[in-house]
Amino acid sequence: LTTGSAAAASSPVDVVAHRGSSGAAPENTLAAVQLAIRHRADVVENDIQRTRDGELVIMHDTTLTRTTDVEQVFPDRAPWTVGSFTLAEIKQLDAGSWFAPEFARERVPTLAEWVAAVGNQAGMLLEPKAPELYPGIEVDLDKELRALPEFNRAVRAGRVVVQSFNHAWLRTYKSLAPDVPVGLLYGVRPTPVEIVAASTWAQQVNPALGAIDEATVHAVHAHGMEIHVWTVNGGADMRRAVNWGVDGVITNYPQVLRDILRRS
Ligand code: G3P
Ligand code: CA
Repeated sequence: LTTGSAAAASSPVDVVAHRGSSGAAPENTLAAVQLAIRHRADVVENDIQRTRDGELVIMHDTTLTRTTDVEQVFPDRAPWTVGSFTLAEIKQLDAGSWFAPEFARERVPTLAEWVAAVGNQAGMLLEPKAPELYPGIEVDLDKELRALPEFNRAVRAGRVVVQSFNHAWLRTYKSLAPDVPVGLLYGVRPTPVEIVAASTWAQQVNPALGAIDEATVHAVHAHGMEIHVWTVNGGADMRRAVNWGVDGVITNYPQVLRDILRRS
């Protein structure tokens, strides 16, 4: 993971493991992180939310139902939102059986556990999910991350990016943490005006691959930023993105992308 205009045009493509190696292990668990490292991902991506008692945990959906057994363990707590459970309650949940029985021991990791698991073995792409649901989460995030030696080392090495779909929130976070590179997520094609505006404060523009074409890649590079595309799981799409010159490909199958890059 590199940031800055000089690196943008010439760096090799980063292999970014989306929610870890989530095609082969339950997403956002430590098993998925460990597998991503075994699959030689350059960067591991995650999703971050906050519990009722203020702890930061790794979870994509704003409810716990899809990726844990919360409905069996706490049947009377509908709609099972992340923010309505304490960390101690969430730690009781099985976060792996929904994916495959051999992952039954997986638990929802805290952010600190996740950062320690990645350590210096890969870069970190951190995505606070729906930060508008968690007032002040930018302060919690900055405080917690600064206390983690692995995070500080990764920042110094240029191996951390914080990204969000909520661009106003991301700007607030960036004002608290000006030394941490940030990436703007887009589900639709960013306009030329948006790309120019982003270049005044962001280091990455990270759109859905299906929303863009090669011209978007060139426009982002022309404004000194990197572009990492998501979520690219098929070989033909991976090759297309690489041929366009993207800086990173975010995928559930980092081992497939690594193999394609090795052959190209
Ligand atoms: O890293 C990009 C991607 O994670 C954005 O979408 O929904 O998987 O968090 P989502
Ligand atoms: Ca994400």
